[in-house]
Amino acid sequence: MTTPDLIDVHPAWLPVEAFRAVGSRRTLVHGDGMLVDTLFDEVERACAANGGTVRRAADPHHGVPATAGGPDAARAQAAATPAQLVFALTATVPGPAPGFRGEAVRSADGDPVEAARAGLGATAVGALGAEGFAVTRQGEVTVVLAEEPAGLLYGLFEVVRRGEAAFGPPYPARVHRPAARRRMLDHWDNVDVHPVMGQVERGYAGGSIFWRDGRPRRDHARLRAYARLLAACGVNAVSVNNVNVHATEARLLTGRLDDVAEIADVLRPYGIRVHLSVTFAAPVVLDALPTADPLDDAVRAWWAETTRRVYARIPDFGGYVVKADSEGQPGPFSYGRDHADGANLLAEALAPHDGVVHWRAFVYDHRQDWRDRSTDRARAAHDHFAPLDGRFRDNVVVQVKHGPIDFQTREPVSPVIMAMSATRLAVEFQVTQEYTGQQRHVCYLAPSWSEVLRFGWGDEGRTVADVAVDGGGLVAVSNVGDDPFWTGHPLAQANLYAFGRLAWDPRLTPQAVLDEWIDLTFDPAATADPETLRRTLHEVMDDSWRSYERYSAPLGVGFMVRPSDHYGPDVDGYEYTSWGTYHFADRDGVGVDRTRATGTGFTGQYPPPWSQVYESTASCPDELVLFFHHVPYGHLLHSGRTVIQHIYDTHFDGVAEVAETRRRWTSLAGLVDAAVHARVGERLDEQLRCAQEWCDQVNAYFYRKSGVPDAQGRALH
Ligand code: GCU
Repeated sequence: MTTPDLIDVHPAWLPVEAFRAVGSRRTLVHGDGMLVDTLFDEVERACAANGGTVRRAADPHHGVPATAGGPDAARAQAAATPAQLVFALTATVPGPAPGFRGEAVRSADGDPVEAARAGLGATAVGALGAEGFAVTRQGEVTVVLAEEPAGLLYGLFEVVRRGEAAFGPPYPARVHRPAARRRMLDHWDNVDVHPVMGQVERGYAGGSIFWRDGRPRRDHARLRAYARLLAACGVNAVSVNNVNVHATEARLLTGRLDDVAEIADVLRPYGIRVHLSVTFAAPVVLDALPTADPLDDAVRAWWAETTRRVYARIPDFGGYVVKADSEGQPGPFSYGRDHADGANLLAEALAPHDGVVHWRAFVYDHRQDWRDRSTDRARAAHDHFAPLDGRFRDNVVVQVKHGPIDFQTREPVSPVIMAMSATRLAVEFQVTQEYTGQQRHVCYLAPSWSEVLRFGWGDEGRTVADVAVDGGGLVAVSNVGDDPFWTGHPLAQANLYAFGRLAWDPRLTPQAVLDEWIDLTFDPAATADPETLRRTLHEVMDDSWRSYERYSAPLGVGFMVRPSDHYGPDVDGYEYTSWGTYHFADRDGVGVDRTRATGTGFTGQYPPPWSQVYESTASCPDELVLFFHHVPYGHLLHSGRTVIQHIYDTHFDGVAEVAETRRRWTSLAGLVDAAVHARVGERLDEQLRCAQEWCDQVNAYFYRKSGVPDAQGRALH
């Protein structure tokens, strides 16, 4: 299996086999524009591999209809034979669809495109939006209708996903629209190799697909392949450099803008807009202005002019991403201003061009004194941002990490998401597995994201998904690099796919998304044992996030990872540091008291009912008890187990689950591609070793602290 034009890279969820159903049919494409051209090319390539044909309808913009695919005779016949699959922009079908008459779409049941439009009824005009589409099967023709080219392209990928099922018995029009308008990936890619963080900060899949050793990489075939993968799962925006903006990267905004424009040119045909991380100090570091004060007129003029030049070069540029006053990045605090002042400065410059600024809420004191028990990193984002609600311009998107700390395996939902109803918020996930096994461990993250998206509060039952959908959408840190499997661990591709799909439709279940991904990626139907393949992949992946949780830091307490690289266990690694990530274990108990009654008061940042639920151990969910409470080892959980016994049991269980996963994976030999089988096998060996290390260190640590033996008498070191 290979990616077209890119023989050394795994095709991920778009192998040629995934296009079998589309590529073996006669397709007619109505409409015009760059993305319709992309669609045509996609179908043409599918036809070349599978014997179908595709032609463009004659329309005012295309004189002679083009037909492609199959051998000459088949092409000639195709022009005269009714189409089986039709893509049409509604604008090309005015009124009773005269444009389609005589365009070889008629079947015995009349004109299926007219029928499709009629089937849409009142929803037809304007309701599909810029990226929506409708799919229907009329008689023997499958019809995809959209108002804009992007919708048509997304419609193609929906038909690909459904495979033969899209061509079965007739079905009425099904309308698909993305929930969130912006579905974005942030690449933490550096242009220069950073001395500590490397080419990609927190990257576990090799080098960057955009940059290498200070230069643009210019591997357009790979970028194009990436763009089509993203379009096929629904992502429509990409930020091309790290949120930590160093000296070289700062220049992408001005002197090296051509490098960004080049990437934008490759991603554009798949409907993906490019964004850029910029430094708040840009006027100072790039043009020697004496200040970057957001209220200074010269600074405002600088941003306005700089931004005007960006749009002159990249007219569909998406906007800026800013990490300010965070982990050493400059920001408005240096000038005595707040984050609304800072964000509005950039928003003002972007507004005339319809750009947005993604302003990150990940702001906290990373130089905390560990002896100081009153400062709580979990509180920081809310303390800084909630009071600013209502002060941000319309084109500011405040980008909030899903949890209050930092992408830990288990965290409560950030209270910032519940506190800023007058601000457009984007929710940020981490697809790159910084804290979840670094793409050496299988860890399917969709169940975790899905829990976050469905989390609700208040009388109206508003959810995290509602906030993202109504506001700034979903953003995630990408897990892709120049690795032949894209993501290092081949099964980590599922996380990238799932992020796009959940951003498109947060109601999808993780299992359903995994089904889609399995069917596209592994083509089970073509294997000797489709059911075993599907079932085993589910067994390996469905619960893998919870397995990871079991053998790593317990009950929501977080961290316990090795400082700096964040891989593997080091229980006290962060305990006496300045980073604000502590577990406070002693001989009597463990956990962080974040209650209003006796702790940091963090629980008070939540609206009801959560402010009460989290305040008391009687109602706090077990999986978060050590995030919110400091409890004795003998504390009885709702599960009926003590905290200490829970720690022992889950760690032994987690390791056993990984061993079982390893065995299951071995059994798939012959059913999955040999290279994928080997790569995943190697990674599982490492996962098992690392899980055992976690288990041994965590269990030994708590046994030594507490002196409590395992109730089942298993060996503790
Ligand atoms: C984490 C991560 C950093 C990253 C930061 C961020 O702290 O370890 O590498 O820069 O998140 O989200 O900005």
